[in-house]
Amino acid sequence: MLRFLHTVQRIYLDHNATTPLLPPIIDRMTAVLREEFGNPSSVHHFGQQAKATVDDARSDVAALIGADPSEVLFTSGGTEADNIAIRGVAEALETGGRKHLVASAIEHEAVLNTLKALARRGWRTTLLPVDQSGIVSPGALREALVDDTAVVSVMHANNEIGTIQPVVELARIAHERGALFHTDAVQSAGKIPINVKALGVDMLSLSAHKFYGPKGVGALWIRRGLRVLPLLTGGRQERSRRAGTENVPGIAGMGAAARIAARKLVAEGTRLAALRDRLEAGILQAVPGTAVNGATEVRVPNTTNISFDRVEAESLLIALDLEGIAVSTGSACSSGTLEPSHVLKAMGFNAHRTQNSIRFSLGAGNTEAEMDRVIAVLPGIVEKLRSLTRTAAKA
Ligand SMILES: Cc1ncc(COP(=O)(O)O)c(C=O)c1O
Repeated sequence: MLRFLHTVQRIYLDHNATTPLLPPIIDRMTAVLREEFGNPSSVHHFGQQAKATVDDARSDVAALIGADPSEVLFTSGGTEADNIAIRGVAEALETGGRKHLVASAIEHEAVLNTLKALARRGWRTTLLPVDQSGIVSPGALREALVDDTAVVSVMHANNEIGTIQPVVELARIAHERGALFHTDAVQSAGKIPINVKALGVDMLSLSAHKFYGPKGVGALWIRRGLRVLPLLTGGRQERSRRAGTENVPGIAGMGAAARIAARKLVAEGTRLAALRDRLEAGILQAVPGTAVNGATEVRVPNTTNISFDRVEAESLLIALDLEGIAVSTGSACSSGTLEPSHVLKAMGFNAHRTQNSIRFSLGAGNTEAEMDRVIAVLPGIVEKLRSLTRTAAKA
C-alpha cells in the first residue's frame, strides 16, 4: 500500500492493530446505510430486508469458521465476544458450583481483565505460563485444572508474536475435566483456515476489523445447546443472548469481509508468509543484535516480532514513523504507555527485551518493494539510536 502523503511513501505494517476496509466492503456497507435502514425486528418489508441482510452476514461469518449460522452471535467486537464467552458462561455455571477460571498469561486484555474482574467477585483464576516459544503447554493446563474449573480461555493466535496455540489438544484436556473451552480467534480468523468442529472448542471470538471489515462489530460462535447468560438485557435480539437493535451496516460489512477472507485465505496466507519471511530474514541479516521473539514455525503468516538489542522500541517506532513506516511495539491498547509487553514478560524475557521489540504485521496491499524499503532504512535508524544511547551513557 504505497501512498504519497507529504512526499513520504507510507507503508502500513500494523494489520494486527487494525486493517483498512476493502473497497467492496465499503460498497456493501454504503448500500446498506443508504437503502436498508429498517429495523430487523420490524415485521414490514423494510424490517424484513434488514433481517435478511443480518441473516446473510451470519451465514457468511459461519462459513468462515465451519459453523452453523444459528450458532453465531453478533457483538460490538472481539472484546465483547470475549466478555460474553467468559462472564456469560461463568455466571451460568456459578449455580452449579464451578468457580474457577483458567486463561493463558499471553491473552489479550479483553480476556485477562475479564478474569481480573471476576476474581474481584469471588472467582478463583489461574494463568497458564508459557516458555520462550510463546506457546501454552498442554501439561501446564493439566496441572491448572481442578474439579470446579468452569471455563478455559486460550487464544488461537497471539496478537503480538503471532504464535498459534495447540487449541485442539488444550480443548480436549479441558473437556476431560468437565470444563468448557473458549478460544479468542480474533487474530487468526481470516488469516488461517478455522473450523470450529475440528478445533473442538465450545466458543470462539471474532472481530471484523482484523480482517478488513469495520470496527465495532464482531461475533461469538457458541456451540449449540450451551447456556450463556446475556451481558446486555433488553429485547429479544440475537436469540435473547444480546439485546439491542443490530448494527446492520456493520454486520453486513463483517459478512462481506468474511466472504472475501474465505475466498482468499489460502493464496493470501502464502503470499503474506513469503513477504513476512523476506522481511524477517532481511532484518536479521542487515541489523546486528536482532532476534525473533517466539516460535517461528507455528505462526500466523502475517506476523513477526523482532527484538533490537540496545534500542528503545518506542524510539524505533517513532523513527520508523518519520520514515513513513507504521509498526507497533505490541498490542495497540497498551501503546502510548511505556509498559513492557505482558506477552514477552510472560515468555520469560528480561526487562530490556520486553521493551526493545517491534511487531511487524503485514496485510493486503503490502509488497516486496515495501519490505525491501524497510530492510534498507532500518540499519541506519538502529545505528543512529544506538549511538545516541552510547553518547548519553558517556555524558
Ligand atoms: C487477540 C485479540 N482479542 C481481542 C481483541 C479485541 O477486539 P476488538 O478490538 O474488536 O474489541 C483484539 C484486538 O486487538 C485482539 O488482538
